[in-house]
This record gives sequence, structure tokens and C-alpha cells, in this order.
Amino acid sequence: MSRVAYVNGRFLPLSAAMVLAEDRGFQFADGVYEVIYVKGGRLIDAELHLARLNRSLAAIRISPPMSQAALLCLMAELIRRNRLPDGLLYLQITRGAAPREHAFPRPLPKPTVVMTMRRAPAFPKDLNAWAAAAITYPDQRWARCDIKTVGLLPNVLAKQAARERGAQEAILIDANGMVTEGASSTVWIADAAGRLCTRTLDHAVLPGCTREAVAALLARQGIAWTERAFSLAELQQAREVFLTSATSFVRPITAIDENPVGNGQVGELTRKVFDVFARHVAEQTTDTPAGTAA
Ligand code: PDD
Repeated sequence: MSRVAYVNGRFLPLSAAMVLAEDRGFQFADGVYEVIYVKGGRLIDAELHLARLNRSLAAIRISPPMSQAALLCLMAELIRRNRLPDGLLYLQITRGAAPREHAFPRPLPKPTVVMTMRRAPAFPKDLNAWAAAAITYPDQRWARCDIKTVGLLPNVLAKQAARERGAQEAILIDANGMVTEGASSTVWIADAAGRLCTRTLDHAVLPGCTREAVAALLARQGIAWTERAFSLAELQQAREVFLTSATSFVRPITAIDENPVGNGQVGELTRKVFDVFARHVAEQTTDTPAGTAA
């Protein structure tokens, strides 16, 4: 069945879904985006994603093009039309199309709103099979990585480097030798002393929605974790490493730069975190009506 996309008020076959050549998303990467995991027709952690979307829009001074309720309705309709109960929903909002000039156009165009869907990997059952390899790679991004902009060239190049070395993710290292995050994920470690941690939120990293959901779950389960910066050396000495994101859920990293992490097996803490997150996803797919925030 062919996919359906949403573009500026219309649902269209994906192959016919287009934006104008002077769209500022295309010309300047002047836009933001979200990626939401859809399971059983439900948007997982929708509230967190919509809150971050609003923060991203505010940070680059685009007025929300519609209410949150209207956006959720369109998302539910897109899921329905694609008949894809398990998938990934992509939303891009740009400053719109206007004759090219760097400063905001006057008058302001209507923001461009694009939504697409694609099949998601099946929610993993076997964590050993879900485990992945990563490389380390210099973080070459800008100074506001907390904004989820469509300007992803450094992430693209990092991910391609990972692929060329047979790995699934690139873990980014800043100029001071500190880990920031993955090219498209949050990085967590169980450090050499077995303490679970992920980096403090600041302008150098995207505040992951999966990170936020996992943090709340850990608090509820009484599993201790800390928020702190950690170095490449600590990453290399970590007992366990895992990623979180809307597309990787909780994904064990068992090798970094071709060296095993810990004993090279999926660790106990990673399993625990995966299990609580899997329950969290399952709860949302049974309790929440389609297309509403969980
Ligand atoms: N990426 N850090 C970066 C740089 C990311 O691009 C992502 C998500 C995350 C994790 O965020 P979340 O838990 O909200 O998915 C962290 C999405 C999946 C993407 O660009 O495909």
C-alpha cells in the first residue's frame, strides 16, 4: 500500500507530497522537527514530543501553526490513512516559503507543515539481537543542539561514518573530550563503579523525550541514576552503554570503536531499563485512545 503524507492542509500520496523550492527549510534549514514512535496506533510519549516541539518553535521564533489538539487530530488521521499501527511519525515545521533572504521574510509566510510515516522496527523482544555497535566521532555541530532543527548535516556525516565502519550509531565527542550524545540518540552509561548516568542537559545536547520518560520511570522504580558530563575515557571504561531515542527505544551498545563494552554482553542495568521502558510503551498502547497524548 502506498504511503500517505500530510503537507500544508492536505493528505497526499507520499510520491506527490512536495514543498516549494523556496521553502526556507530547504534553503536555510530554517525549521524544526519531531519523530514520534507509533505503536498499536498510539503515539508514544506524545505529550513530551509536543512540549519539545513548542520549545523548538519558540527558540527559533516560529509561531505554532495550529493548536496542539488540531495537530494531534491530524496525526491520528495520518496514522489511520497509512494503516500503519506500528511506525514512526515524522513532523517538520519550517518558516515557510518566501523569496530568498536570510532574515525573516516580511510579511511572514505561513509555516510549512509536513508529516510523513514509515514502518518502525518491531519493538525488540530479544535484547541480545537488538544490541548494536557504535563508533566515536567528533561533535561538529552548532552551539544550540537543544533545539531539534532540521539542520542535521553533522549528524548525517557522523551516521555515515558509523555505517562505513559497520556500526549503527556515532557517539559524539566534544572538543574537550567529553561525550555529548549520539548522532540521533541519548547516551547512557553504567560507569566503572556501576552507577547509571547520562549527560546533564544544556545547549550541547537534545533533551531526549525517551530520556525524560526513562528518567521518570527510574525514579518510580527506585533505580538510582545521576546526570553528569562524562568523558571519552569514562565511556571506554564503562561497564554498560545504552542509547535511548524514539527510534532505538533502549538499545544496548556492546562495542565501541571495535572494542567490547564491559564483557561485550548486554548488561543487567540495561536490561532493567529496557524492561521498565517496554512496560511503559505497553501501558500506553492499552490505555490511551488513538492519537491522544499519553
Ligand atoms: N532523534 N539526540 C539527538 C541528536 C537526536 O536526534 C535524538 C532523536 C535524541 C533522542 O531524542 P528522543 O528520545 O526524543 O527520540 C537525542 C530522532 C529519533 C531522529 O532524528 O530520528
